[in-house]
Amino acid sequence: MGESIDAAKFREVLGHFPTGVVVITAIAPDGSPLGMTVGSFTSVSLDPPLVAFLPEKKSRSWARLRASGPRFGVNVLAHHQDEVSASVALRETEKFAGFEWRLSPTGLPVVSGCVAYIDCTTEQIVEAGDHDIVIGRVDHLAVEAGGDPLVFHAGAYGTVFRHLPK
Ligand SMILES: Cc1cc2nc3c(=O)[nH]c(=O)nc-3n(C[C@H](O)[C@H](O)[C@H](O)COP(=O)(O)O)c2cc1C
Repeated sequence: MGESIDAAKFREVLGHFPTGVVVITAIAPDGSPLGMTVGSFTSVSLDPPLVAFLPEKKSRSWARLRASGPRFGVNVLAHHQDEVSASVALRETEKFAGFEWRLSPTGLPVVSGCVAYIDCTTEQIVEAGDHDIVIGRVDHLAVEAGGDPLVFHAGAYGTVFRHLPK
């Protein structure tokens, strides 16, 4: 029999699992860039090539991304892009004002200097509690700047050690 799980304890315990930080992007009908900062990104399948992220159902950013159409970009942030992460996570529309970006060959916003980007078309949206699981088929992908990624762990930003100390 499961114990009832307190929300604060859930966040605290799950916060011990480190994640990378990505910015999900799309273009709004008026041509402006849309974005959402997400830690819940993962690769899913190689054949066919699928990835996934988990937006909160009540997120206004996710509602705007979803309404813009089935295509979305995934930008893997670099270790020095914590301010990009924070800016895109804000509850406002002018999220892209403080940094450079351009369009990828398939027409999705790419954050300049990100480690890598992955352009996708939504294949399936699975409801999972208070979140959706958005599964995207990869249309185009590239390493952009490479280098060390931004990591979120225990409520703070960091990066990775390339090798475990011996
Ligand atoms: C490092 C980091 C990781 C995040 N990961 C997620 C995530 O996986 N799913 C999600 O729904 N929101 C995530 N957020 C929150 C959103 O970026 C954003 O703050 C939230 O969607 C704002 O609410 P709005 O979409 O209603 O404007 C994350 C925020 C940060 C800073």
